[in-house]
Amino acid sequence: MPQVAIPPIVVVAALAVSLAVAQSTFPATPLVSKRFSYPTGIPYKADTDVGLIRGEQSGYNICNSTTEGQNSLCQTGFINGLDDFCLWAPSKANSTIADTEGEEVAWCTKPGRGTRLIPSGALQGVQFMKTPDYIQVVGYLNQSLINMQDGDFGGELDPHGADLRGNPMGGLLYTQQFNTPSGQWTQVIEWHNFMGGERFCFKACDPAGAHAADFCQHIFDRIGCAYNAPNNATQGVFESCLGDNQDFPGIYTVNGQVMTYTQPPEEAGPIPPLPYQPRVPPSSSCTQFDSAKLYPVQTATSATSTNNQPSGTQSGAGGSQGTQGSNGGRRAGVSELIGMTSVSFVGVFFSMLFFS
Ligand SMILES: *[C@@H]1O[C@H](CO)[C@@H](O)[C@H](O)[C@H]1NC(C)=O
Ligand SMILES: *[C@@H]1O[C@H](CO)[C@@H](O)[C@H](O)[C@H]1NC(C)=O
Ligand SMILES: *[C@@H]1O[C@H](CO)[C@@H](O)[C@H](O)[C@H]1NC(C)=O
Ligand SMILES: *[C@@H]1O[C@H](CO)[C@@H](O)[C@H](O)[C@H]1NC(C)=O
Repeated sequence: MPQVAIPPIVVVAALAVSLAVAQSTFPATPLVSKRFSYPTGIPYKADTDVGLIRGEQSGYNICNSTTEGQNSLCQTGFINGLDDFCLWAPSKANSTIADTEGEEVAWCTKPGRGTRLIPSGALQGVQFMKTPDYIQVVGYLNQSLINMQDGDFGGELDPHGADLRGNPMGGLLYTQQFNTPSGQWTQVIEWHNFMGGERFCFKACDPAGAHAADFCQHIFDRIGCAYNAPNNATQGVFESCLGDNQDFPGIYTVNGQVMTYTQPPEEAGPIPPLPYQPRVPPSSSCTQFDSAKLYPVQTATSATSTNNQPSGTQSGAGGSQGTQGSNGGRRAGVSELIGMTSVSFVGVFFSMLFFS
């Protein structure tokens, strides 16, 4: 029987097609549709998908005394108060958020839940805020102490991601702050956590609220904390506040008209000056604390050394953090409102424009 020669290119093409067919992107169930009660209902991994393009969940969600410590790969986080919150950050030293967003692990202020602990001196000013619809923690950070590369401009972590598996994939978040008088844990469904530029902001929206997905909007990933979590956090100050709700990120009012901002795509280059200043909502009460008392285990000597930093000066360059830089970037002084942008292909270059 005559041999039929199959041209190599056809073989390669057929292989490529079968590989492409075999590997898909989206999970059967998006992370935001999964519900687990803490602590008893937590699975070993919230993301059980295999064979998807981004691979498998890098860590785990069942975290306990055997996982606790600086090698923990716990991806169950908590946000409860000024003295009790976690941030998502890399598991390996000198990493960028852009390179590791799918794999971040929980770094926490409070021991006892199987996570890593935020080391002494890393937190350099924190404002915790509780409002009718969300809780939020915003602050200044020595980010290399939680494995972020010096100068990394960072990015946004949220439970969506382009493929709906979340960043980190399988990351779960819990709080006792939402209408749980006897201390039950609520799974936070909608949240966003911006990390980078020696700053962070982490907002967790009450799932019982009608607008959790709006307050914790995740599509404005390039315009940072100042626009996604307008705040008064001040370097060297550790305070816990009650306050009013923010506007939804990206929504602003000019002359009584409600407008929606559209974030340009990364291909369009650096973000042009934004057409609005975010409104920092009023706080009804703030109580300040000594950081050494807040974080006794990890920070015996920490942030009191920053207490002589200028505080409360939100005026900075021209009255707000939004003053335009000479290159169309945005300026932010050390003690100004925390503003940062996000993962960007223009990376460091953009960050210089944004923060310089
Ligand atoms: C502790 O957590 C690890 C990692 O998730 C898990 O393998 C182990 O079963 C847990 N131990 C207990 C006693 O739950
Ligand atoms: C961190 O990584 C960058 C880029 O790979 C490298 O230039 C730098 O030397 C590293 N820093 C440390 C402290 O290892
Ligand atoms: C962060 O902490 C390390 C270790 O204490 C220190 O060497 C470094 O200068 C600090 N970085 C910043 C930006 O303060
Ligand atoms: C922010 O500061 C302004 C001006 O001092 C104040 O009116 C407002 O209540 C503060 N809001 C928050 C959330 O701290």
